[in-house]
Amino acid sequence: MPYSHILFQVEESGIALLTVNRPEKLNALSGAAIGELADAFGRVAANAAIRAAVLTGAGEKAFVAGADIDELAALSPYKARAFALRGQAVFRQLETCGKPSVAAVNGFALGGGLELAMACTVRFASENAKLGQPEVKLGIIPGYGGTQRLPRLVGRGRALELLLSGDPIAAAEAYRIGLVNAVVPQVELLDYCRGWLGKVLANGPLAVGLVLDAVDTGLGCGLEEGLRFEAAAFGVSAATEDCREGTRAFLEKRRAAFTGK
Ligand code: COA
Repeated sequence: MPYSHILFQVEESGIALLTVNRPEKLNALSGAAIGELADAFGRVAANAAIRAAVLTGAGEKAFVAGADIDELAALSPYKARAFALRGQAVFRQLETCGKPSVAAVNGFALGGGLELAMACTVRFASENAKLGQPEVKLGIIPGYGGTQRLPRLVGRGRALELLLSGDPIAAAEAYRIGLVNAVVPQVELLDYCRGWLGKVLANGPLAVGLVLDAVDTGLGCGLEEGLRFEAAAFGVSAATEDCREGTRAFLEKRRAAFTGK
């Protein structure tokens, strides 16, 4: 599928760099952009040569300033529901693709932009970033997972503060409440993301996938079921060649050479 709203580039390290590319509209997500993201996330999941993804926005001002308000303004109730379900499914596709993803939040991450960032495994922000869920200011509510992922990330009280005021917060405050994992100068942001992923990708790839799966499953169920899932996934990890290689390398005092088998 040719892309006109996003850029998709696979780097030598196996990191796919996805850039929402509509800087003149602060990378607002149109329906077409959501379709292209769905295709790109499918490629990230299916292509064994792609081991991780970094998402960012074109230009120096915005990550993604939300869903496209021009399109939102024209939606009937039924179409609005379908619009939300579609975006939720696409973001969930990224969240459950089995590979780590990083949001490089290089400016405004508002509405659907913050929701996209929250569907990533972790978020690193540039110093100029501003994050928020301003939907109530437009008389609507978040529809791409904001009411669900924000309280899971920062707790009910802080999430409701952001969701009900609609006010954005600066990167430093987002870091303080755990909404972003680190704040770095804008020029260093992409390399910081690559650096973190480099550390993750040096670990056993099957183990990385199982941790993502166990945390995701556990957050969606009770402690007992989550613990049982973890034990089963632990059993799977213990049966891999990566486990044999990782433990042997430790005992032989050398770096493990994981094969993902
Ligand atoms: N949807 C559609 N267009 C958007 C947009 C969005 N979510 N966010 C920004 N744009 C457009 C603006 O309309 C403007 O277009 P124009 O030049 O054709 O008028 C362009 O992007 C630049 O934005 P502008 O508002 O001029 O920049 P700013 O620096 O003054 O303000 C923001 C930046 C982010 C504070 C402001 O654009 C804004 O509030 N955007 C909407 C955020 C939002 O509510 N998102 C949630 C949507 S559900």
